[in-house]
Order: sequence, then C-alpha cells, then structure tokens
Amino acid sequence: MGQRMSRDDESEPAPAGLDTSVAHSARMYDWWIGGKDNFAVDRELGEQFARAIPSIPAMARENRAFMHRVVRYLSRAGIRQFLDVGTGIPTSPNVHEIAQEIVADSHVIYVDNDPLVLTHARALMVSDPAGRTAYIDADFTKPEAILDNPQLRAVLDLDEPVGLLMIAVLMLARDSDDPWGAVRTLMDALPSGSYLAITHPGQDFDPAAMEAVVQAATAAGMTLVPRRRAEVERFFAGWELVDPGVVPVMAWHPDSEASAGLETAFYWAGLARKP
Ligand SMILES: C[S@@+](CC[C@H](N)C(=O)[O-])C[C@H]1O[C@@H](n2cnc3c(N)ncnc32)[C@H](O)[C@@H]1O
Repeated sequence: MGQRMSRDDESEPAPAGLDTSVAHSARMYDWWIGGKDNFAVDRELGEQFARAIPSIPAMARENRAFMHRVVRYLSRAGIRQFLDVGTGIPTSPNVHEIAQEIVADSHVIYVDNDPLVLTHARALMVSDPAGRTAYIDADFTKPEAILDNPQLRAVLDLDEPVGLLMIAVLMLARDSDDPWGAVRTLMDALPSGSYLAITHPGQDFDPAAMEAVVQAATAAGMTLVPRRRAEVERFFAGWELVDPGVVPVMAWHPDSEASAGLETAFYWAGLARKP
C-alpha cells in the first residue's frame, strides 16, 4: 500500500478549499481501493484502522464490488435512474458507467459534500450521450437540500422508479443527526417500484476491533458509527427486502468478480423495493 502514488508525492498543491491536515473518509477510502487522491494524514489514519482490522482495504474493495453488483441487478430489473448519495472520489467503473453499459440512456445524480469529490465532479459528468449525469453538492442529513435542488428534477423523473444508493456513507452520521429520518425523507420522495441499497459497517462482527477503529477515528476528529444488523434493517423499514435480506457484504448475490476470500465481512449490505 505504501508504494502507491498519492497526491502529496506529486508537486502540485492540494485543490483550493481542501483541509489536508485532517483525515477524510473519502480520501482514506480512495487510498484503500488503490486511488491517488489522498494525503499523508489520510494514509496515517487508514493505517491505524488497518492495524485494528487488517482486512479493511480488502473490505473497501468488497464494498465497491457490491456497488457494481447491485447497480447491475437494478439495471437488469428495469431501473433507469439512480440517486447515488455519498459518491466518493470517482473510481471507474462509477455508477453511470455500470448502468449505461447495460442501458445507455440511464440517468444518474451524484451527491456528496466533499470538496475533493466536487473537484472531480466533471469526471462524473461524462455520460453516455444517450444518458445523463449531474452532481449535487449537499449533505444527506439535510435531505431537502437534495430534493429541492433543481438538478435533481432536471435529470430524474420522480414519477418513474429510482435506485437510491447509500453505500458506505450512513456510518458517517451520528444517531443524533437522525440518518434514519434522512433516508426516510428521500425514500418518501420516490415512487413505488424504487429501490434502496445500503452498505454499512457492522458493530456485530468483531466489536473489539471495531471499537479500536472508532477510537482512532474519534481521536482524529472523524465521525464513524458502526451499527448492528437490526439498526441497519431499520433503514429499510416498510420496504420489501430483496432476498437474502441484510447480510455480510460478500454474501449479497455473489458473482464471478474476484473476492478477496475474507472470512469476516465487517460490512452489512441490503437492498429493498418500495411496494
Ligand atoms: C467511504 S466513501 C463511499 C463512496 C462510495 N459510495 C462507495 O461506496 O464506493 C463515503 C462518501 O460519503 C461522503 N459523505 C460523508 N458524509 C456525507 C454527508 N453528510 N452528505 C453527503 N456525502 C457525505 C464522503 O465525502 C465520501 O465521499
């Protein structure tokens, strides 16, 4: 991991508005999955996490592989529009690349509140000419800011089903920010036949190792809230969970994409359909 190219191996300065003195989830995740948009502070905290859970970079790749599988599943189920909340630093294939490979005129709205993702937003806009993509800079704990953004309705037809993706993002909100209420507000705005996909770090897999990770995050000023399976299932309340329900991320519709062969998933994953 230490051999990877990264932002501050290069001579160019960090983009304006970026605080590179504090670790950031998007940039740590970028490092774990082999990207180069990360800084020393991100790699330092990323290594602290990996000391507690050595498989964490592999887990990040498994999480990304789930995103690939669930977008393919939804495209094949007839979903033509996606709302991807907590997009992350662009890493090909992104949601629109996967969806548009199956259905060229798929539409995707990306939402994130990280300035580095914003810097890369142009990469998220390179849609198949038949489809459309747009980027909204917003905080999901204020879901009205997403729903009221004119871009949303310019790109998505909210009379047609939408695939709402909240992949590896909900753990970045405290219970007191009511992430369940935020997800509910977004779900309520979507029509019948829409889907919600979630991955979320689990508190149930290895509580001691996860506690060490949370302590490292807290000491670095980062919010990280792993949750129990029942708390993750609550996000889907009132919607029909697709089989096999909320399961360890690698167990959700595994396909031929190589898995790291991990024994412990550390992440829950699930998909549900709005009746
Ligand atoms: C770990 S990355 C996940 C990226 C991508 N969803 C994936 O699974 O590959 C989490 C992303 O959520 C974004 N994020 C964190 N809190 C957010 C918030 N309150 N509103 C919107 N985005 C947020 C971060 O900036 C980061 O890009």
